[in-house]
Order: sequence, then structure tokens, then C-alpha cells
Amino acid sequence: MADKIILITGATDGIGKATAMALAKAGHTVIIHGRNEKKAEAVKQEIMAETGNDKIDLLIADLLSLADTRKAIDLFTSRYKRLDVLINNAGAFFNKVRETTAEGLEKTITLNLFAPFLLMQSLLGVLQKSPAARIINVSSAMHKRGGKPDFTDFQLEKTYKPDRAYGLSKLYLIWITRYFAKQLKENGINNVTVNACHPGAVATNFGQDADKGFFINMIFKIALRFMDKVEDGARTSIYLATAPEVQGISGEFFGSREKIEKADDKYYSTQHEQLVWDYCASIVKPYL
Ligand SMILES: NC(=O)c1ccc[n+]([C@@H]2O[C@H](COP(=O)([O-])OP(=O)(O)OC[C@H]3O[C@@H](n4cnc5c(N)ncnc54)[C@H](OP(=O)(O)O)[C@@H]3O)[C@@H](O)[C@H]2O)c1
Repeated sequence: MADKIILITGATDGIGKATAMALAKAGHTVIIHGRNEKKAEAVKQEIMAETGNDKIDLLIADLLSLADTRKAIDLFTSRYKRLDVLINNAGAFFNKVRETTAEGLEKTITLNLFAPFLLMQSLLGVLQKSPAARIINVSSAMHKRGGKPDFTDFQLEKTYKPDRAYGLSKLYLIWITRYFAKQLKENGINNVTVNACHPGAVATNFGQDADKGFFINMIFKIALRFMDKVEDGARTSIYLATAPEVQGISGEFFGSREKIEKADDKYYSTQHEQLVWDYCASIVKPYL
């Protein structure tokens, strides 16, 4: 399809913005999600000027609020009857001290896991209207670094560390991707696929503003010099959104070089995957 309708979360900066720019250049309708309306409008103008594509729209929501996310979903479905690609790209690494949202949820897990879960579930209706829809969940190689999951302490009240919260949120994102792919298949929904990916180590604002503790702050600053350019970081998302050879592939984890990789399965089991799915479902239930 020449003109896909593509929604990208966190498209106001970094990898999401580079993904939006490339997909707009290719002529698709791109909906830029952002949390800051002014910044999102500026990005929209920049993309339209650089690509000559005027099919650029905005969707504003703070994904740290599931209520706000719900409102944005409703706004989207009132404007668009079909969605061809959902890229759950927004994500962040938070402070060394555990913080909760206004809804009382741990911030990292909310932004990196609950919000994508809610978006996938609530947008399934419009995704099914597409002849061939794709969901892309931007995870991370850091999914290997969260340590052992504790399902009695899902939101890390006892064992919070920013890298643990980030690593586990991205591990669980891979698990819910797999689970959702199986569910779609079991329910005979063959026109929607869902895959996760790692964009590589990319020089963006990612994690730069958070107070992660002296040592991790320093590593993040130094690492910037050796990281990939943002356009390289967007490659796998763009590939998964548009490449004909990805058609029909679902439930996989793609590495930064557009190849299927094996996610770290040290703590994986179908029971654990089910636990994570059920937990996410229980959290987002009031917003479905
Ligand atoms: N950079 C890397 O090396 C790397 C490696 C592995 C995985 N990743 C993943 O790649 C994805 C993109 O990261 P990036 O490096 O491009 O980061 P980034 O430059 O910090 O951009 C993050 C995007 O998410 C948005 N965002 C942050 N908090 C939000 C919230 N509460 N509500 C709505 N939007 C919010 C940001 O909005 P604002 O513009 O308003 O800040 C921005 O558009 C993330 O999921 C990250 O975990 C990145």
C-alpha cells in the first residue's frame, strides 16, 4: 500500500522523530504523537517543510497518564477509521529514586509497558480495518539487564533501581508482544502482526535528563560519543513498518540490523508470560 496510516508514539524527538521523517518522506500519512503540543507542532512543521508531505497529523497525550492515553485513543478513532502501523516508540529511563504517576503507578513500567499495552489493545479495532496492519514495539537490548523478575513486586516497590525498572519493562514488552501475536493467531486475526525490536545504541536525549546516580549519569554522557546516529536507530522501525518481506511475520524480536534475534529467555516461561499479560490487563482494565 502506497499510503499507510502510521501512528508513532514519542515522535517529537530522537528515534521516533527520525522514523516519522523517513516515513513522511516515503509519502505515508504520519500521526506524530507527543506530550508537548508546542514541540509536536514544531516537529510537524519541520517534517512537512522537509518532506513536502502535508499528510502529517498530531496526537497529544502524556503516556504517564493512562486516562490521558485513553482520551488520545478516542480522539484517534474519531478521526481515523483505519490504522496500518502503530509504532510504540515512546520510552524513557527514570531517576534513581522510584517515582509514581498521578494514577499511583511506577513511572518506567507505566510509560514503557502499560501505555503500549493499552494502545495495542484499544487500537486493535482500527488496526483490523487495515488489509495488513503492523504493530512495532520498540524494546531494547537492555531487556537482558533487569535481573530476575519478581512477580510479587511487579512495580518494584521493594527492589527499584532505574536500570532494573527499565530492563524489566523492556523484557515484559517483548513477552506481551509474543503473547499478543499468539492471541491474534488463535482468534483468527491474520491481518495484524506484532513484533518487538531493539534500535541499537543511539545518540539521543534518552536518559540524559534523569538523575540515575553519579556513575550511571557519567556512563550515559560518555556513551553518547560512541553511539549510532539517530537515522540508523530508526532503521529497524522503518523496516518493520514498510518492508514487504516482513509481511505475516509476528511475535518476533528484531535487532538493530533488521534481523530476527533471539530475545534473552533466561526468565521466560509461558506461565511468566501469562502472569505479565494478566497483570498488564488488570492495570489497564479501567481504561479499556
Ligand atoms: N537511544 C537508545 O540508545 C535506545 C536504545 C534502546 C532502546 N531505545 C528505545 O527507543 C525508544 C525511543 O528512544 P529515544 O532514544 O529516541 O529517546 P528520546 O530521544 O528521549 O525520545 C523519546 C520520545 O518519547 C517521548 N516521551 C517521553 N516521555 C513521554 C511521556 N510521558 N508521554 C509521551 N511521550 C513521552 C519524548 O517526548 P518529548 O519530546 O516531549 O521529550 C520523545 O518524543 C524508547 O522506547 C527507548 O527506550 C533507545
